[in-house]
Amino acid sequence: MGANKKIKVLQQAIEKKMKSLSKREGFIYKPIDYILTAGGKRLRPIITLLAAESVGGNYRNILDAAVAVELLHTFTLVHDDIIDNADSRRGIETIHKKWCTNTAILAGDMLAGIAYKSLLKTRGDKLPEIAKVFTNAFITVCEGQDLDIEYGKKDLISVGQYYEMINKKTACLISAAAEIGAIAGGGSKQQVTALRNYGTNLGIAFQIKDDLLDVTGEAGKLGKPIGKDILEGKKTILLLKALEIAEPDDLALLKQVAKRQLIGNKKTESVKKIYHRLGVTEFARKEIVRYTLKAKRNISGLKANEATGLLTDLAEKIIHRNS
Ligand code: IPE
Ligand code: IPE
Ligand code: MG
Ligand code: MG
Ligand code: MG
Repeated sequence: MGANKKIKVLQQAIEKKMKSLSKREGFIYKPIDYILTAGGKRLRPIITLLAAESVGGNYRNILDAAVAVELLHTFTLVHDDIIDNADSRRGIETIHKKWCTNTAILAGDMLAGIAYKSLLKTRGDKLPEIAKVFTNAFITVCEGQDLDIEYGKKDLISVGQYYEMINKKTACLISAAAEIGAIAGGGSKQQVTALRNYGTNLGIAFQIKDDLLDVTGEAGKLGKPIGKDILEGKKTILLLKALEIAEPDDLALLKQVAKRQLIGNKKTESVKKIYHRLGVTEFARKEIVRYTLKAKRNISGLKANEATGLLTDLAEKIIHRNS
């Protein structure tokens, strides 16, 4: 099967399973269906299914677990948009904007519950192990989101603190997606470790790219606002590096960003120009390449098959993604 065809098959299987969850009576299911049918790349469940197949499993047997990972991810997005004051997501208005914050809080809570419901459908004796990885990822994402909030209030954090934050808020769930697939697919201890590490490094690259796209991306393609990290004073690697190397002329504006004192789109454009001029966008690009290379190396010892090849391709695609 061609590479794209296989991914399409997996995507369709995921969509079918997701659809079977919707169309329930009751008001709260409206925002839930709304976000679940709004698209999204489905990166995490695809990783789960590919990880299972890379160790000899069959994706059909672990669709419930893969969908559970996507549902948990969607819960984090709904709450993240409240935290980040974001007006759009997946090309549509965010739930808290279209309805209200209380509805978005509840829709997020429900998504986490529905995620567990789906996970618990997983058959076989691996469920306790899978549920442990899933639950740890859930807790870690919340810890990471908390660091994001706390660091947002600080004037400066270290590069080490940035990596800890993105590891927790993003890489951990991508890592869990891969690890769950590997466990469910019957992988050996060594294979499970390889795929877990792959997910971690891929996840770090993915979040740095997300931070970069806030500067270089297009809102239309991303389906979410850009320049938002600058306005919200988010401590991205771009801001941290720029603060480190800027001359006094640029430093004043960058410090305003860090203190969340920047207001207006015109100013965000000036900040973007500084980022380009100082080469911090280029620095971020190099970091993305460095971490995707690590991810590829993590799985280079696995038996070569179609799924392993597709996981390697995925790492490459992160570098070039614009949505
Ligand atoms: C967005 O995740 C949140 C981050 C961790 C950066 P995605 O970019 O995977 O969002 P969807 O699922 O495709 O909408
Ligand atoms: C995403 O971080 C982290 C989680 C959703 C857990 P961001 O806040 O950067 O994600 P986007 O850019 O809003 O998608
Ligand atoms: Mg956020
Ligand atoms: Mg956000
Ligand atoms: Mg972002």
